[in-house]
Amino acid sequence: MQVKIVIGTVAFMLTMMILGFAVLREPARLSQYTDAAKGRSIEAGAHIFENNCATCHGVDGDATECYNSAGEQVGCQGLPLNNYDLLCGDPTYRMGTLNWAGTKEDFVKTTISAGRFGTVMPVWSEEFGGPMRPDQVQNVTDFVLNWESEDLCANEPVRYAWPEAAADYLASADGSAGDATNGAELYVTYGCSGCHGDTALEGSNAVGPWLGDIADVGNTRVDGLDAAGYVYQSILDPNAFIVPDCPTGPCASPSAMPGTFAARIGSNPTDMADLLAFLLGN
Ligand code: HEC
Ligand code: HEC
Repeated sequence: MQVKIVIGTVAFMLTMMILGFAVLREPARLSQYTDAAKGRSIEAGAHIFENNCATCHGVDGDATECYNSAGEQVGCQGLPLNNYDLLCGDPTYRMGTLNWAGTKEDFVKTTISAGRFGTVMPVWSEEFGGPMRPDQVQNVTDFVLNWESEDLCANEPVRYAWPEAAADYLASADGSAGDATNGAELYVTYGCSGCHGDTALEGSNAVGPWLGDIADVGNTRVDGLDAAGYVYQSILDPNAFIVPDCPTGPCASPSAMPGTFAARIGSNPTDMADLLAFLLGN
């Protein structure tokens, strides 16, 4: 009898210890499981990105290197996603500029799911008539969010205060010496050419107006603005004036031209002078 009780007690205690150990390990096991699942999701997202998004957002997601279906390098129509303003902080700078009140993940996922109405950013989720299942949208969302890193977020970009009038900018140290040759390169790397085409080739524009004659046309668009003032305003605030004619019909309002160039070019304010020198020298 005594022996049975002892054996019973020991067995019971052993069971409790094993159970207790398993319970204690559960959170660790679960988080390993979630990490592995997240890893697989990010990997699947990388393939989706390469096949569907890199044409506009760039092979590294920083909107500097884009290729068309023929494999030729073209200007990136999309915004940089591997980018401080989209990913760093919570709320991020982009969430602030678009008055987004939800979470960062929802911001990225909703944009991917529903696209951006009136812009070339397509709808992706089946839910809104796009080609992707919810799990695929989640994969590519995880992939984009995974670009957030200590390195990327170490330094907040400079928030340049653009003078209201082009003349004041051009009279400042940053605006004084435009370099048209560098401007021609920036016209491609900022993605202008992806929408506006080659300035030397009329009709090569895909989304926005052709800019080969903007040095003349720019003088006629808005009362009181000369071509420099007009192009300056068009880049910093695309909605200030909506051009009547785009390649596929009237230009849409709000503008399909991203409103992020003030922030992006603001990291290197002399780039504006170079772009103006290039566009107005044509
Ligand atoms: C995603 C496409 C897209 C990108 C990228 C883009 N634009 Fe535009 N842009 C447009 C569209 C569409 C319009 C016409 C609608 C409007 O008035 O905003 C436009 C209008 C303009 C105009 C006015 C043209 C006119 O005929 O009056 C200028 C100037 C301009 N963009 C310059 C630029 C420069 C410089 C860049 C690069 C720094 C750039 N754009 C990048 C789509 C784009
Ligand atoms: C045809 C070109 C194009 C393709 C393809 C494209 N995008 Fe975009 N995307 C854009 C443009 C242009 C914008 C900016 C729209 C605007 O002006 O707000 C954008 C915006 C975004 C944004 C929001 C960025 C921000 O700072 O607000 C995210 C996130 C995004 N795209 C993800 C994706 C993903 C993921 C894919 C692939 C599944 C994809 N895009 C495919 C053109 C594209």
